[in-house]
Amino acid sequence: MRVVLFGPPGAGKGTQAKAISDRFSIPHLSTGDMLRAARQAGTPVGKQAAEFMDAGKLVPDEIMVGVIEERTKAADCKNGFLLDGFPRTQGQADALASMLERTGQKLDAVLSLEVPDAELVSRLAGRWTCPKCQASYHEKNLPPKVKGRCDRDGETLTQRTDDTEAAIRKRLQVFHEQTDPLKETYRKQGLLRSVEGVGAPQDVQARIHNALGA
Ligand code: AP5
Repeated sequence: MRVVLFGPPGAGKGTQAKAISDRFSIPHLSTGDMLRAARQAGTPVGKQAAEFMDAGKLVPDEIMVGVIEERTKAADCKNGFLLDGFPRTQGQADALASMLERTGQKLDAVLSLEVPDAELVSRLAGRWTCPKCQASYHEKNLPPKVKGRCDRDGETLTQRTDDTEAAIRKRLQVFHEQTDPLKETYRKQGLLRSVEGVGAPQDVQARIHNALGA
């Protein structure tokens, strides 16, 4: 099963990804998580990406395509993967299509989480993330059991450096200009499954499983 999890910043991609990945036994490949890990490790890719990320801009396609090509070659991707945050531009979508064609693979679905902008802003401004396992919480909508601590591993939760008001605004603008148009490409290919992303996370999860025929 090869699925693209598509949606604006704050739509709930990270929140929903674990359940999808568990349900279909496919690895969750989040380009945002990969870039944050590369930054933390101080790799050349991490250093190049930092400035773009903090400004809410997209990291250049040539970097991102290389990251995904490398990651999808790993043994755990043999039976598929869940792409979260890739592709985000027409260039990335074209690169993904040729990569899959070269290896005789195809996408099964592009799952688009639909959430209005006003709700996205309040979700991102109240988000807290676990730096160890990347679990995502919200101070009001999805609080951890113990304030400031991850439910899964007890780590101290942190706020992301791109969850500032200016960066959130920029990320939404970039999404509408460069990423949202890809939906039309995937709709024409018969791959698009749009899912209402507003409501309790477990209700959204049920809609996703339904849309994927699980
Ligand atoms: P990335 O990490 O991919 O960030 P994003 O797309 O902006 O998405 P988020 O992680 O912010 O949101 P999400 O949809 O995962 O929502 P979440 O589940 O956390 O990318 C970061 C940056 O990296 C980019 O800006 C760019 O610079 C770079 N980058 C990454 N990929 C790239 C690429 N391919 N090309 C170029 N650059 C790239 O939920 C958000 C909040 O809402 C949480 O607090 C959560 O608890 C809450 N929430 C979730 N579901 C619900 C619900 N149903 N109801 C109420 N609250 C909810």
